[in-house]
Formats: sequence, C-alpha cells, structure tokens
Amino acid sequence: MKRILVTGAAGQIGSEIVPVLRKRYGSDNIVAAGHKTVPDRELLEGGSFCQIDVRDYNAVENIIEKHHIHTIYHLAALLSAASEKDPQLAWDVNINGLRNILEAARKFNLSVFFPSSIGAFGPSTPAENTPQDTIQRPTTIYGITKLTGELLCDYYYKRFGIDTRGLRFPGVISYKTMPHGGTTDYAVEIFYAAVKDKKYECFLKQGTRLDMLYMPDATRAAIELMEADPAKLIHRNGFNITAMSITPEDIYNEIKKHIPDFTMTYTIDPMRQAIADSWPHRMDDSAARREWGWRPEYNLAAMTKEMIERLLEKV
Ligand code: SER
Repeated sequence: MKRILVTGAAGQIGSEIVPVLRKRYGSDNIVAAGHKTVPDRELLEGGSFCQIDVRDYNAVENIIEKHHIHTIYHLAALLSAASEKDPQLAWDVNINGLRNILEAARKFNLSVFFPSSIGAFGPSTPAENTPQDTIQRPTTIYGITKLTGELLCDYYYKRFGIDTRGLRFPGVISYKTMPHGGTTDYAVEIFYAAVKDKKYECFLKQGTRLDMLYMPDATRAAIELMEADPAKLIHRNGFNITAMSITPEDIYNEIKKHIPDFTMTYTIDPMRQAIADSWPHRMDDSAARREWGWRPEYNLAAMTKEMIERLLEKV
C-alpha cells in the first residue's frame, strides 16, 4: 500500500488535516512529519509521526523510501510576519524545502500538494474580485516564496509531468492549533480572547478587509483538489479559494451576538498592517468552483457559532 506524507504536520493546518486524512485513507497510510513544533497527543497517538527538516534532502528521501510514499501534502513553511522577521530563513524553508520535495517527487514520481496564499498577490493586484490569473508582484518575502512556489510547481508539472496541485489559502480560522507569525492570526486570536477574557486588542486597523476560510473548508478543499479528475484541471496550482471577505469589526460584531460584553480595542502593528494592506480584499474563486467543484460550507455566522462552542469546551 502506498502512503501519504504530510510535512508541517504539527502546524495549524497540518494538525487538522492529518486526522481527516487518517480517517479517510486509514491511519496506517498517513505519515505525519513535524520539525520543531511539538505535536499534540491526538497527532502522536493516532498514527505514525516522525521528525523531519525539509531542508535536508536526504532526510526527505529516506522518509519517502521507508514509508512507500506516493503523495506529499507539503505544509511546512514560515507564515508572512515570521518571514518578514527572518527573510533568509523564510527563503531557506519555503523555497529550499519545496525544491527538495519537488526533486524527490521527480525521482519517485509522487503527487504534491502545495499551499500558496493570498500573500502571493501584491499592491498592484486588483484588490476586489481578484482574478485567478492577474498581476502578481508581491512585496513581502513570504509572498515572493509563495509565488515562486506556484511557478515551480507549475514548472515541475509542465517540464517533468509531476502531479502538482495547490491552493491560494486566505486567512484560515480554527480552534485546535494557533497559527504562528501570520498576518491573519488576529482572526484566530480574537475568538480565544473573546471566550477567555471578553476583550481583545487587535493589531490590524478597523476596515482591513481580507479573505478568510474556516478550517473544515480548508482541509476539505485540499483533499478535494488532490482527488479531482486531472482532465478537468486547467490550472493546477494557486487556485483562489475563499469563503468570506471580512474586517476585524465584522468578526467582532458577530462574536458580540454570542458574548454581548465582549470589547475590542486597536493597537496597530505597522509591519503586519503593511502586509495586510498589500493583499487583496476579496478573491474571485470561480476557477476553483468550475474546475473541481469548490464550495465553502461555512460563512461568518456558522463559523463564529462553532468556534465559540468549541473554545468554550476547551478553555
Ligand atoms: N495566514 C497567512 C499569513 O497571515 C496568509 O497566507 O501569513
């Protein structure tokens, strides 16, 4: 039996997609691999978990050979604000790590899922109804690595016939594992703060509109794309997907319906605000809808209700 490898398995998306993949394909067929982030109990006890630095090509190859891997969900990466703090490390992990995965995919003929981002766009991209194919001149190192990743994945498909596929994730909201070093982290922190302290200090200013997605939609999107009929895919990498285009006050107002005494203040982080200001407000995800049937299930109201219920059980 051939198996799926998930890198970045202890991260925000990894820690949620691994249990979904285990359930869908059987625990024995999923190999979760993390680096420094400590995995939670569910991840450790639900199936195999190993340690890997994706910058180490031999380590990548060893895992692939040992576990008879046929598909890699390559989620190991630095997010936008963390990348801006250490651009050299961002390049090393996000690009050299991906290059190792793609080279191994070429050698062993594997399929690869690559998560791109709204960060792959820049200030000269149309911010409203951002088309699937448009100007991409990102001004952050994170965006540069994500755009390079999209292009590299397309190149490996066209040049070597490697089955690469990928999405441009917007901010992903979830209650299980906190994101670290992202510009959209506020949209996760706000829920924890609302439930725990009934107050939140937001680092992006009022009116900062960005696309967002609730985690169950994000994990389902990745798996649906990997299972899609390749004959229907006109694009392969960097599919725009979104479920909601929202501002901090939109989330605040929705949370207040459940927690009426919740309050929010703003203390702007200039670095993350500048990153957010360079990103689109609302992506057009019609290519994903057309080519492989993408449909989000959660809007702001449904997500907020579930986030609060789950966090109340947790904190
Ligand atoms: N959530 C990501 C970030 O903020 C966007 O891809 O970096």
